[in-house]
Amino acid sequence: MKIFEEIESEVQSYARAFPKMFEKAKGEWMYDREGNAYLDFLAGAGTLNYGHNNDHFKGALLEYIENDGICHGLDLHTTAKEAFLTTLNEKIFQPRGMEYMVQFTGPTGTNAVEAAIKVARNVTGRENIVSFTNGFHGVTLGSLAATGNSHHRGASGTTLNGISRMPYDGYIGDDIDTTAYLDKVLSDSSSGVDLPAAVLVETVQGEGGINVATTEWLRNLSAICKKHDVLLIVDDIQAGCGRTGSFFSFEEAEIKPDIVTLSKSLSGYGLPFAIVLIRPELDQWRPGEHNGTFRGNNLAFVTAKAAIDHYWSDDSFAKEVQRKGAYIAERLEKIVATYGEGNLTTRGRGMFQGLNCVSGEFAGKIARLAFKKGLIIETSGADDQVVKCLCSLTISDESLKKGLDIIEESVREVLGNMDQLPEEENFFSDDWQAPLKLITNPS
Ligand SMILES: Cc1ncc(COP(=O)(O)O)c(C=O)c1O
Repeated sequence: MKIFEEIESEVQSYARAFPKMFEKAKGEWMYDREGNAYLDFLAGAGTLNYGHNNDHFKGALLEYIENDGICHGLDLHTTAKEAFLTTLNEKIFQPRGMEYMVQFTGPTGTNAVEAAIKVARNVTGRENIVSFTNGFHGVTLGSLAATGNSHHRGASGTTLNGISRMPYDGYIGDDIDTTAYLDKVLSDSSSGVDLPAAVLVETVQGEGGINVATTEWLRNLSAICKKHDVLLIVDDIQAGCGRTGSFFSFEEAEIKPDIVTLSKSLSGYGLPFAIVLIRPELDQWRPGEHNGTFRGNNLAFVTAKAAIDHYWSDDSFAKEVQRKGAYIAERLEKIVATYGEGNLTTRGRGMFQGLNCVSGEFAGKIARLAFKKGLIIETSGADDQVVKCLCSLTISDESLKKGLDIIEESVREVLGNMDQLPEEENFFSDDWQAPLKLITNPS
């Protein structure tokens, strides 16, 4: 481990939480140098939906490399790109009645978000973008401006602007439809919120703590965008590629975003790859206006095509994800009912699920103990209060049960050493003076 201390930057994060020397990985398992096995419920922060080194894509990748296929191709037309686009069109767009132009951006999620924001601004001639509380869209300056988290925002070193923040679904309480507020401020010429180019939203906020927008909220949001002639951008970088039980996370809501960002599990193999889907009329880029050297990771095109062919040629995989998702939800609900004393809650959709432990300290203890028991799992949310189950979608039933057993054991053991469970603060309580009390009596 010495070399990492000597010359790797302090900026490391996951490496601090899981301080082992990892060497190999297969499916839902990772192995350290000593040969110890770890069950991976982190899955590359949503990049390994199909597991590590998936054999269905590995063969195609090895064959492509063996034949000296183009590896790096800028934005040149290549046979690998042709095959990927054809499969994407035939197996993803056409069956869903979707029409999009595909923009290849730099290979990370934030590259796709930057391009999406930029095209929306250029097409509409407006600067403002609406994004939501607890949203996470990446850490380059444009995406970071749209991101809520103060830890990441604080590192920008400059002003983050061009964004109006709106409350996400459930932010002010379950009974309040926050889209009504958005509609009001966009309708009121004195609201102080400039008419935006676009609304940028995650259907399930991954880094923000697995906050799920309801179908109704998403439909309202889409309708309000249409009403005010504002573009709707769905950031499906973490929630897409099957995570919620359908290829796109917004399918259940039956909305039609103007722009969609995809990355993470798109290549299927963990290879860097990102795209922006743009409604044809909005694809008003001029040649080369937005570029980047790494827009042609042809190895990723090969594995992305293989992933779509193998998992998305029919709906059997989606059904499997829904089945496993229901099992995860059932197990987490049982944990909450058994140990939660009314304070812990579950959250999520499909195989994008979490256990809200209310306090980051408590959630962190659970994740650390789980790691000692061989489970790699992270926390998310404003205070890292949510234990985030993000296993590969291809995980076996046996491994899934094992991972959830470890979570349950860890919750039980951590609780055994605690006097009392943390309690959710009801910020918007029925008692109208509650916020005042918080100010006058911070303790
Ligand atoms: C919804 C969403 N958008 C954008 C990003 C940024 O992706 P990247 O880290 O690849 O830049 C993330 C990363 O977690 C994400 O979850």
